[in-house]
Amino acid sequence: MPSLRYVNKEKWDTILKAQYEKGAYNKYPTEPIVVFMAQNYFKIQNRREVRVLELGCGSGCNLVFLDKERFKAYGIDHSPWAIKISQTLLADNNCSAELTIQCATSLSFEDNYFDVCLESNCIHCNTTEDIDLIFKEIHRVLKPGGRFYGILVSDRSADFSRGKKIDTQTFDFSSSQYSGGMYNEFPVVHFFNKKELEKYADLFSSHQFKFMIETIENRSCSENAFAQWWIQLQK
Ligand SMILES: C[S@@+](CC[C@H](N)C(=O)[O-])C[C@H]1O[C@@H](n2cnc3c(N)ncnc32)[C@H](O)[C@@H]1O
Repeated sequence: MPSLRYVNKEKWDTILKAQYEKGAYNKYPTEPIVVFMAQNYFKIQNRREVRVLELGCGSGCNLVFLDKERFKAYGIDHSPWAIKISQTLLADNNCSAELTIQCATSLSFEDNYFDVCLESNCIHCNTTEDIDLIFKEIHRVLKPGGRFYGILVSDRSADFSRGKKIDTQTFDFSSSQYSGGMYNEFPVVHFFNKKELEKYADLFSSHQFKFMIETIENRSCSENAFAQWWIQLQK
């Protein structure tokens, strides 16, 4: 299968440009990321010495939180519009972060550079081939003892297999035919199973997987599941 990296980047750039023009982008941090940082890093005195990288920073909502909490925040996204929105949101909040346009499959940072690498709904926007590269990059840029935290969609979600199939775990929801679900317009969504996570965890010295599931019931559906993995890896 040819790489979908370019298609993915172009589509995300279009989605984010539309969000920027409508002012309809996410302004608030992802809750599990707040909890993860609080539990593991709030006790540190000089937080500016703690380098935290967010992969696929989108609107920059998590970077605002990181900077307000006095961490040294870095954000990367392959979409130039994501970086523009992040600059705007950071400036609106009198915050700053080091922002660069780059793909998570091949990071410009040196080895062992970050204390923490985070992601929220970025990695699952990639194909299996690219996800393999991303986890290798996370391991490479983290310091020994550094931690990764990620929020990944599970294949026990109702949306699994509703889109156009790319491979056994990956689907394309970009056509209007597949609209209406959680991943409306997303060009690539990879739904993770535990075996895959174990493969990535093998690169690291320790791991913790939290499986989160919520179900929604109403008159038109009896049980619509949304399931995620909240994962921690330590180098
Ligand atoms: C669903 S949005 C999430 C944005 C943000 N993390 C949040 O929680 O609001 C996914 C983001 O990941 C970015 N992204 C997806 N794959 C990427 C890759 N391989 N490299 C860099 N950015 C990527 C997209 O451009 C988009 O901004």
